[in-house]
Amino acid sequence: MKEGLATDGAEPLLVANSISRRFISGGRRVTALDDVSITLSAGETLGLLGPSGSGKSTLARVITRLIEPDAGEVSFAGQDWLGLKGSALRRQRRLMQMVFQDPLGAFNPRASVLSAITDPLRIHRLAPRGQWRMRANALLDRVQLPASLLDRGIGEISGGQRQRVALARALACEPRLIVLDEAVSALDVSIRGQILDLLVELQRQDGLAYLFVSHDLAVVKAVAHRVAIMDAGRIVETGPTGRVIAQPSSPMARALIAAVPRLHQERPR
Ligand SMILES: Nc1ncnc2c1ncn2[C@@H]1O[C@H](COP(=O)(O)OP(=O)(O)OP(=O)(O)O)[C@@H](O)[C@H]1O
Ligand SMILES: [Mg+2]
Repeated sequence: MKEGLATDGAEPLLVANSISRRFISGGRRVTALDDVSITLSAGETLGLLGPSGSGKSTLARVITRLIEPDAGEVSFAGQDWLGLKGSALRRQRRLMQMVFQDPLGAFNPRASVLSAITDPLRIHRLAPRGQWRMRANALLDRVQLPASLLDRGIGEISGGQRQRVALARALACEPRLIVLDEAVSALDVSIRGQILDLLVELQRQDGLAYLFVSHDLAVVKAVAHRVAIMDAGRIVETGPTGRVIAQPSSPMARALIAAVPRLHQERPR
């Protein structure tokens, strides 16, 4: 189970302020994000929840700089994150990693597990070539995979193993924040629970922060200290996970709770 977190007085790791983003889709204007603000402290998990189309992935993509917002600011690790360019951006980028629902899409399927994990070591020059194998072994160990997987193809391992490799690759960068967009949604329930436990354990070891995007409150409850609930491009409620589940104030929070019938009775993990 995640532990309580004292963040009073600490400078937030991430502050996204008044982010807006529109898309033109089929000739219509879609407001994917409408004046959205979030903060995240070191060592904290913020669960970003909401129904399909509410803007969760768009916010994750703005924060990871995969797309530009129309308006708003983001500070990350004390810097004007959206203003960073060139070598300053490359240096800082290492500190914010992303894990997607389908890691196969993020990897070359013919690449080996070894090269998937050591790519960041090469790109960010974090270790000399002679150390890559040793580093990859240590990273596999951290995500509880056997070293025998190192020379297998990314396309030859299971979905759960692939998600652990995606985490190992993110960890290779020694990030301070990992943005996870539906990272466990495609996995079987038992595998999903193991990956959630692993995320909590890695956070305990490293003080990592997670922005954990999901449409499933039961999953978010297992990892998130706080939740932010989105509806139609806006954040409609935010607060400590337990408080929001016990006393939701928005209709969307109530709907998400109602979608998980046994939420209140579930044994704490
Ligand atoms: N590249 C794009 N072009 C046009 N419209 C887009 C684009 N990306 C997102 N949208 C629209 O923005 C809105 C928010 O989409 P987004 O993917 O952020 O939602 P989501 O909350 O992640 O949903 P899901 O739970 O289905 O992943 C939707 O109406 C979507 O159709
Ligand atoms: Mg999404």
